[in-house]
Amino acid sequence: MKEPEARGAGSEPEGISTALKARIREEIHAQGGTLPFSRFMDLCLYAPGLGYYRNAAPKFGPAGDFVTAPEVSAHFGRCVARQVAEVLDRVPDAAVLEVGAGSGRLASQVLHALAGQGLEPPYLVLESSAELKRRQAEHLHGEGLGGRVEWLDDLPAPGFQGAVVANELIDAFPASLLRVTDGAVQEAHVVHEDEAFRQAWRAPSREAASAWEAIHRDLEHPLPAGYVCEVQLAAPAWTRAMGARIAQGMLLLIDYGYPRRELYHPDRRTGTLVSHYRHRVHHDLLVRPGLQDLSAHVDFTALARAGASAGLRVAGFTTQSEFLLATGLLAQGERLAPGSDAYLQFARAVKRLTLPAEMGEAVKYLALTRGINGPLVGFGGRDHRPRL
Ligand SMILES: C[S@@+](CC[C@H](N)C(=O)[O-])C[C@H]1O[C@@H](n2cnc3c(N)ncnc32)[C@H](O)[C@@H]1O
Repeated sequence: MKEPEARGAGSEPEGISTALKARIREEIHAQGGTLPFSRFMDLCLYAPGLGYYRNAAPKFGPAGDFVTAPEVSAHFGRCVARQVAEVLDRVPDAAVLEVGAGSGRLASQVLHALAGQGLEPPYLVLESSAELKRRQAEHLHGEGLGGRVEWLDDLPAPGFQGAVVANELIDAFPASLLRVTDGAVQEAHVVHEDEAFRQAWRAPSREAASAWEAIHRDLEHPLPAGYVCEVQLAAPAWTRAMGARIAQGMLLLIDYGYPRRELYHPDRRTGTLVSHYRHRVHHDLLVRPGLQDLSAHVDFTALARAGASAGLRVAGFTTQSEFLLATGLLAQGERLAPGSDAYLQFARAVKRLTLPAEMGEAVKYLALTRGINGPLVGFGGRDHRPRL
């Protein structure tokens, strides 16, 4: 589906944000003066033509606001490709589907790495942003891969065979922001007062309240009064729907997140929602709509259960550092001359991708499979599934 262009917003960042603020104010007004935070976040990220992932401002990499693993280094994509190649080897007529492809870098990294092994499977991309689709096509063309990728408008038809990969997709799903005191839950709303968006606590929607009830039943520790956390209501439904389309293959979900009992831990009392703006992380979620990223850590227990309910096997759960080491990250440096620029870049990338204080522990990998026997190469380290 073609995404409508923003009218009158201009392509200047300030113009985009001014137009998006007006769009959000209109919706707050139409809803009687208050909007759930999750809807505010949805508009901030995905309002057609204006939202952060839909507008023309830079996002990924040094010129943008944050750096994801494929932006750090092509070594990441080569590791993902190793896991994908294993699935291609076990599934007949297999394709690769990447969901939420950002700048297109992961696609080019995986395609180059697979071609290096003589593999040229169909490569599909499901991307909800028309602007990012355009940038992905441009990047792939520049990499000599024009024509190698086909974009889908929706989830694939049931019967998909192959590997589905999504890096930092779910952490960009809208989150409901909740506050819990003595078992009673409130949900954050956004109102517009004195020329600014402000947060207000209201009774939760029925959906948010029942999601929280289910989460709370799984927790082992009492929570401190005023405990703030998030629930991504759309994440399990998306995982189930995607999983149901896979006849044989793997759904690999890579994201910042934790198993449920660790995510909703009493020590994490202010939640995980953050904003990224020009490489600064902050908690001013209501400012600069459309110009700053918003993301929340993912509840991997919810994703694993959703996959299982679609009949998938929870084949692996691990950390980024363990996945990358298992798929040969360090071996990629063996061909580089120690002390060369390429070697120093490699060493920097390894640190960024694997150190616990960087992305190594906070980013997790969940593999959900159907009709694939045996262990998966990326999950050959310690088995973290009992944590789910
Ligand atoms: C945080 S970015 C990650 C981009 C890329 N995977 C990377 O690692 O650099 C999230 C991406 O998911 C896309 N996206 C968000 N929701 C989506 C959905 N429901 N279906 C397809 N793409 C989606 C966004 O437009 C964006 O490309």
